[in-house]
Amino acid sequence: MAKPMPVIKEWQVDRLKGRDFIDFADYSPAELDYLISLAERIKHKQKMGEPYQPLLGKTLGMFFTKASTRTRVSFEVGMYQLGGHAIFLAGNDTQLGRGEPISDTAKVMSRYVDAIMIRTFAHEDVVELAEHASVPVINALTDLHHPCQVLADVLTLKEYKGTLKGLTVAYVGDGNNMANSWIQAAPKFGLNMRVATPEGYECDPAVVEQAKAFAEESGTELVFTKDPVEAVKDADLVYTDVWASMGQEAEQAERVEKFAVYQVNEALCRHAKPDYLFMHCLPAHRGEEVTSEIIDGPHSVVFDEAENRLHVQKAILVATIG
Ligand code: CP
Ligand code: NVA
Repeated sequence: MAKPMPVIKEWQVDRLKGRDFIDFADYSPAELDYLISLAERIKHKQKMGEPYQPLLGKTLGMFFTKASTRTRVSFEVGMYQLGGHAIFLAGNDTQLGRGEPISDTAKVMSRYVDAIMIRTFAHEDVVELAEHASVPVINALTDLHHPCQVLADVLTLKEYKGTLKGLTVAYVGDGNNMANSWIQAAPKFGLNMRVATPEGYECDPAVVEQAKAFAEESGTELVFTKDPVEAVKDADLVYTDVWASMGQEAEQAERVEKFAVYQVNEALCRHAKPDYLFMHCLPAHRGEEVTSEIIDGPHSVVFDEAENRLHVQKAILVATIG
């Protein structure tokens, strides 16, 4: 039997209209719960074959200065399913790539499109774009954050566990954009979080301070350690990501050496709860940050996670474009 869909209060729908989605700091726990509920409803409609096109005639501009499979396809398909349209803009093919100021680009784009999605290197560029755009700006990954991915991960966790409050998430590996977004989000969803990173590869210090404050507010656990076993012990979710992110290709060999003991493998996952889940934002490097045994094994939900990018992003688009 299909499970009953959460009821969305009307005031919540309007509240996010016109807002940017750049990181989790700007969103309250109630607003984030609302986005997850909306994603559940939108996913349910799609699975039931119920047409849902609230963005008829709306356009999303998508700037990419980094590679992507999931993000590009899920945003483009998502806009199409919602009745709207998406335009792919490769960074170097636009005037932005030739030095046109971000502020001018933001103002011009705001005259044409109803929202802007951007994947790029410097997080500050996204913040600047949002400052000058009069339409919502959605962060589709920067060197600092990847909030759309974490929202999809949280939806997946909720689908498998039925609830979020009190669960423990273990992140093992590089203190990168995924880790930064996870530590910001976890306390806001009532999740405990333990992060194990090698010396010198910790999460961004400013984000750590923010996350600590959020954890104190919500009364959740937030632990940073060098020990992967300490992080994974009794965890409900084990999470990892690549050791060298986009833009760090030159450091690959050095990182493989330094991160070796942070590999998510059978021996490490034995410390997690017996019914733990494994997630990875993908793309993954089997044999580096995770073994095939784990990512292709019975605890892994990486493809549900990838699918949920579509549903949560549709929720973000509906909520922010309105
Ligand atoms: N996880 C993720 O963002 O994938 P892409 O780089 O393929 O978009
Ligand atoms: N940390 C990775 C995530 C890819 C989705 C990167 O930035 O390359």
